[in-house]
Amino acid sequence: MRTGILAAVMAAPLAGCAELNLQSALHPSGHDAAVIAEMTWWLIGGATVIFVGVMILLAASLRDGRRPVRPGVWLLGAGVAFPVAVLTVLLVYGLVRSQQLLAPMSQNALVVSVTAKMWWWEVRYRDPATGNDVVTANEIRLPAQRDVYFALTSDDVIHSFWVPSLAGKVDMLRGRITRLRVRTGDPAVLRGQCAEYCGEQHARMALHVVVEEEAAFDAWLANQARPARVPANALQGRGRALFNERRCSACHTIRGVAEETAGGAALGPDLTHVGSRLYLGAGTLRNDGDAMRDWIADVQRIKHGARMPAFRDLDDDSLHALSAYLEHLQ
Ligand code: CUA
Repeated sequence: MRTGILAAVMAAPLAGCAELNLQSALHPSGHDAAVIAEMTWWLIGGATVIFVGVMILLAASLRDGRRPVRPGVWLLGAGVAFPVAVLTVLLVYGLVRSQQLLAPMSQNALVVSVTAKMWWWEVRYRDPATGNDVVTANEIRLPAQRDVYFALTSDDVIHSFWVPSLAGKVDMLRGRITRLRVRTGDPAVLRGQCAEYCGEQHARMALHVVVEEEAAFDAWLANQARPARVPANALQGRGRALFNERRCSACHTIRGVAEETAGGAALGPDLTHVGSRLYLGAGTLRNDGDAMRDWIADVQRIKHGARMPAFRDLDDDSLHALSAYLEHLQ
């Protein structure tokens, strides 16, 4: 019994750590984040050496109120030359190492376009089979050990793309494309966060990066390129009908649904495969249990200020049908 309680107490912080590791510059996953983490530790080390060294000298000089022998030598040697020497070494190291973050792009890099919007992320890939755009949202899948080229932009205010375990922070500006090149590491699920204050729900503008084996990624992309699954039963069929009746299609695209707005609505996330995503609402709700239903029914309580209105007038049966259909869109 006591062992059980002890194990539970010890497991709680560990579980917390596992969650934290998803989003930490000190737990790199991939080449670029590893270079940044290494530089961070060297800079912290250098700063510590200077701080401790100067404090020791200060303590020595104050001891017994005695005047240090040859104060000029100590002042110039320890107070100026020593920090300058350490900082010069760190500067040269930093310049050389950061050049490796700017290494040229490889020919077979995967290109992913990300557009930030208040407060979610539109993600586009090129379908290797047809050359068409494959649109998804709030979740980026990448093959492991591969060069990736991100083309980042914004549709409204300034946002910032930051997946700390993958790479450094890059601003996203309207009318301009900023580039980010990374090399992914081993399979992992990483969390990213908008890092530039962009309004009421800046804090709930997260995204997830799923790094997976090449074959799994190819299968995922091929599936994302397909139109939406057709309803598998009457309940889902009713959900699909409701999607059009309630004009969800004015803001959201479900590819393959006949009544789709011409050109595809892009005010809200593309929902063609929304059921396969880990989270809803840009990292706000884990996409399981009643999350879909809760989101539709009361989005303004969950993410106040989001562009989507709450559908409180939908009765339980309608909510059930609509969420069953959307969950089915794997
Ligand atoms: Cu988008 Cu902060």
